[in-house]
Amino acid sequence: MLRRALLAAAASDQVHGLLTGTPAARAIVARYVAGDNAGDAVRVARELRAAGLLVTLDYLGEDTTDALRAAAVAAEYVTLLEKLHAEGLTADGAVEVSVKPTAVGLLLGSEHGERMASEHIERIAAAADAAGTTVTVDAEDHRTTDAGLRIAGQLRGRHPGAGSVVQAALRRTESDVRALATPGTRVRLCKGAYNEPVSEAFTDPHEIDKSFARCLRLLMEGPGYPMIATHDPRLVRIATALGLSREPGSFEYQMLYGIRFDEQPRLAASGARVRVYVPYGGDWYGYLVRRLAERPASLGLLLRSLAPRSVRSRSVRSTA
Ligand code: FDA
Repeated sequence: MLRRALLAAAASDQVHGLLTGTPAARAIVARYVAGDNAGDAVRVARELRAAGLLVTLDYLGEDTTDALRAAAVAAEYVTLLEKLHAEGLTADGAVEVSVKPTAVGLLLGSEHGERMASEHIERIAAAADAAGTTVTVDAEDHRTTDAGLRIAGQLRGRHPGAGSVVQAALRRTESDVRALATPGTRVRLCKGAYNEPVSEAFTDPHEIDKSFARCLRLLMEGPGYPMIATHDPRLVRIATALGLSREPGSFEYQMLYGIRFDEQPRLAASGARVRVYVPYGGDWYGYLVRRLAERPASLGLLLRSLAPRSVRSRSVRSTA
């Protein structure tokens, strides 16, 4: 309930101004975001690789309605991939990239937007191929699901390593997963981070977990390459049990930068492939809000730091 309310409130300009203009928000951002530029992303990728972890890098930004901005985001990815390649980080897909279709133009008109996003992601995928690595097309809210899956599907014709993302929260996902369970196809399964209508999505966390478990089983019993993106210990345990009947190295776990830091190397030390999703860039608002919505305790800290000093000290006294 709180999660849905927060995601809805985040659309307000006032909340945007309040959150982006405060030092407290900056401190929380530093936990979840590698830094402002490609240099920061490369540095964090190098550190994670040294710890035995795989990486996917996301240049932050979404919901672009400016064609020049969409082109600039694609150009940033190409430059990033060249830098990663020059550092020897991309070999065998060890460091790849994740891209949001709405960051590269999907919202610029229905057919035109999809064509633009598709062409930009094609450029990124070509740069990824040249660097010896892959691109994964992130999932956004349900209005973009068809386009996102279409873009990734068409991309796979030319770049077989291109990955799709599905969200267990969406009612349609089990059927999408069946269609995606084809040989070698890289599919990331996550719970879903967006505020969705009940007509499209399960909203009860227990229902979402059950959907995740059903989709997970389909992927793990199929011929593709499942990418299990969750920090939920119970779902990780289920995946580990299902993974026992798969070839070693034929699936991976994925977690977000800044979340369950200790679990990531622990899983990797057990012999599993573990990839960390690392966002970077200045356009962190939407990403931060989704992370705060998943973690009400961080939100509480932030709200307390935003309150005027006098209110804070009064509330501290009254609870003492
Ligand atoms: P859940 O939210 O139930 O969390 C399980 C446990 O993880 C919590 O109890 C807590 O310990 C810890 N935790 C979770 N979130 C935390 C936070 N913000 N801060 C601190 N601890 C936290 N979504 C989407 O819609 N499209 C996408 O493309 C992607 N891509 C993606 C890639 C990767 C690698 C991951 C891990 C996740 C995504 N997601 C995503 C986000 C995903 O949909 C989901 O919102 C989050 O992963 C949180 O869900 P969990 O499965 O972790 O479970």
